[in-house]
Amino acid sequence: MIRGVGLAVPEKLLTNSDLEKIVDTTDEWIKTRTGMEVRHIAEEGRDTSDLAAEAVQRALDDAGMTVSDLDAIIVATVTGDMQFPSTACFVQDKLGAKQAAAFDIAAACSGFIYALSIANGLIASGQFRHIAVVGAEILSRITDYEDRATCVLFGDGAGAAIVAPADGSGRGILDTYLRSDGSLHELLYMPGGGTKYPASHKTVDEKYHYIKMEGREVFKYAVTAMGEAAEYILERNGLSGDDVALLIPHQANSRIIEATAKRVKIPPERVFVNIQKYGNTSAASIPIALAEAKQEGRLRPGDLVLLVAFGAGFTWGSALLRF
Ligand code: COA
Repeated sequence: MIRGVGLAVPEKLLTNSDLEKIVDTTDEWIKTRTGMEVRHIAEEGRDTSDLAAEAVQRALDDAGMTVSDLDAIIVATVTGDMQFPSTACFVQDKLGAKQAAAFDIAAACSGFIYALSIANGLIASGQFRHIAVVGAEILSRITDYEDRATCVLFGDGAGAAIVAPADGSGRGILDTYLRSDGSLHELLYMPGGGTKYPASHKTVDEKYHYIKMEGREVFKYAVTAMGEAAEYILERNGLSGDDVALLIPHQANSRIIEATAKRVKIPPERVFVNIQKYGNTSAASIPIALAEAKQEGRLRPGDLVLLVAFGAGFTWGSALLRF
């Protein structure tokens, strides 16, 4: 079960009107095509692990637990501090979580659901009791602010959940569903920085260290896959949209969110949307939304919550929680 949630976002803001001054775009285009209005941007010197550690500390506070309770830290990210060690190790060090295992998961925007599924399995196996599952990104550092098709979309932030064994009350992670299709990786990727294209003058000149995306194509796949993942996990558990207290979808585009909700017949008042405030924060979007939903009183103990995401890889998936 999820015992506590927390979020951390940088203070600096990037608004649609700021973007109008950087690339050939308009506030109207961004709002109507994506639903976005503002994103948070990490200040120089602030690392992904800083945001992640803050989010974990807040989630621990929310759970009434301390760092010494943590057996493991899993960070879902595609913008880790370094290629290695894992960002989770930096978080472990910053928190002083001396007895915790630490590792990262790279599943892009689906990363939090992947990490949650792994944490749930590790706890069910009896290996660990308390795991901090974090989604944390500084996407602004891999965004090309000369490319209007991508730079309006992404923001920075982190969210965390403390996952613990079920307490017998029926609350817990009921099911998770994970999928992938690597054959479509070139629709959304960052080619540089790995062993295929190690840093060179050529990779820098050709902007291999920035996000490349075929937005229209990604959009089509995202709508189909998120709808299917939401529908499938409900059916597999003998549930329908009527049973869901809150749908928390990955926040990539308000039109994708609307299509997903429609597919499982969940009305807008039971769909959590904060894309206007943060843009797309990849793996951080769902845990940020979880923490905000709880803060706003939209999540109560015992609520059935449906999470669904789609991202680079492609990867996609869903999770059903009794919060
Ligand atoms: N401002 C103004 N115009 C823009 C623009 C911007 N920031 N970005 C693109 N355009 C233009 C395009 O050049 C195109 O112009 P043209 O018709 O003259 O060629 C037009 O707007 C439509 O572009 P298109 O890419 O078809 O728009 P879209 O409706 O598909 O919206 C996205 C673009 C990126 C918002 C949308 O495709 C999307 O959200 N895709 C999925 C993103 C996603 O989920 N990514 C991460 C997965 S987690």
